[in-house]
Amino acid sequence: LIKKGYVFHSDTDTEVLLNFIEDIQKNNNCPLEEAVRIALKRIVGAYVIVLIDNENPETLIAARKGSPLVIGIGKNEHFLASDASPIIEYTKEVVYVNDYEIAIIKPDELILKNLGNERQTPFITKLDMELAAIEKGGYDHFMLKEIFEQPQTIFDCLRGRLDADAGTITMSGIEKYADEIIAANRIVMVACGTSWHAGLVAEYIFEELCRINVEVEYASEFRYRNPVINKGDVIIAISQSGETADTLVAIENAKQKGAIILGVVNVVGSSIARASHAGAYTHAGPEIGVASTKAFTAQLAVLTMIALKIGYKKGTLNHDRYLQLLKELDAIPDKVASILQSTEAIQAIAEKYKDAPSSLFLGRGYNFPVALEGALKLKEISYIHAEGYPAAEMKHGPIALVDESLPVVFIATRDSFHEKVISNMQEIKARKGKIIAVINEGDEQSLSLADDVMVVPEADEIMAPMLSVIPMQLWAYYTGLAKGLDVDKPRNLAKSVTVE
Ligand code: AGP
Repeated sequence: LIKKGYVFHSDTDTEVLLNFIEDIQKNNNCPLEEAVRIALKRIVGAYVIVLIDNENPETLIAARKGSPLVIGIGKNEHFLASDASPIIEYTKEVVYVNDYEIAIIKPDELILKNLGNERQTPFITKLDMELAAIEKGGYDHFMLKEIFEQPQTIFDCLRGRLDADAGTITMSGIEKYADEIIAANRIVMVACGTSWHAGLVAEYIFEELCRINVEVEYASEFRYRNPVINKGDVIIAISQSGETADTLVAIENAKQKGAIILGVVNVVGSSIARASHAGAYTHAGPEIGVASTKAFTAQLAVLTMIALKIGYKKGTLNHDRYLQLLKELDAIPDKVASILQSTEAIQAIAEKYKDAPSSLFLGRGYNFPVALEGALKLKEISYIHAEGYPAAEMKHGPIALVDESLPVVFIATRDSFHEKVISNMQEIKARKGKIIAVINEGDEQSLSLADDVMVVPEADEIMAPMLSVIPMQLWAYYTGLAKGLDVDKPRNLAKSVTVE
């Protein structure tokens, strides 16, 4: 294009595409829509574009591949966005554009075509989202609102599915593939960030209850590593937004190799949800804060229900334990609510350590992924360096970091690893590290060792992460607040990473 005399003012591929389309239109003397179609057949990579036709300024042309595009259907008006949230105040009727589709949009007409210029029928989805769900509702920040919504969002996630009295879990999307999951040689959890941490918790739960080999993969590694995928493998894609590019491509690749794809997704109608064979929505409602909080606990609730259902059907989970765990899960929303009744102690601890240059988060077993999540939350909200580790790993190097300036957070709720965690705490104490511990009521051993404690209710160790993560979320929030940072929109971060 440069050789043809086109001048570029930026390094963005958007500018290149625009000039490419213009060049095609000139050479072929064709309407803009046709030029766009020709261009899109020849470019490589993910895109979402909207063009205004200079000749027909009442016409928009939009298209997508790999990145999300939603069209709101108004009265003599249309709206385009990458997510339904900004549209909801204008209309509840939306069309999710699919990959390789082009939308020609006039105020009173929406035409969808594929790249072969064949008309496609727009499928109109009615949103069940309320405007209030994307407003702060009296909280100072979306992140705080979403942390405090968790008793309700976990309850919403269980509602209509878990019946602890009847001893049933109803999940039609999973039931359709229950036999394949039971027969699977392995389950691969594919996700990024916080959702990847949910996958780690699920690994322990599925292996414990279903006795199926589980692997947890970073989507960005999984998609490029040319992984061995056998027909019948089950991939569980975990994603709040349902638009994370790496996760989406990872499951598309796996699907082509014959794997069964189950989606555990929050945003209804999102790309990952639509790319999955089946799955279960987390029903946490719109999560606006960049840091994922309520989506994480909802992911854990869904994954726990799937594992309970499959383990019981497979026979690796006996009836009594199954009923007991159903009751434990049913009680989680109230237990989360009890933690949120008084957060002053957590706020005080966060403020006490807000100037520490770095922090370590340690846990074992089901609480090891919570340590990782606590470190991620602190990093992304307060910009303090933090690392999560299996507590036993300290001896393999990281303990060299420990001195009186280093806060070490132990996720130390009572479980089958508790005694080991206590001895790890003693190792830190002996080196004058500052110990902050998430514990259960009356844990005298931890109380004797820790400088500060955050107390959560007891629960079966399988359910503990849904409780022990709450102080971690609040710790990050109050630390970011104390440092005067934008806790809803931290620097350098996007809510949904729709590009590589
Ligand atoms: C979590 O607080 C982060 N915002 C980020 O790690 C996030 O979990 C990750 O980008 C995955 O997003 P997804 O769940 O929408 O796929």
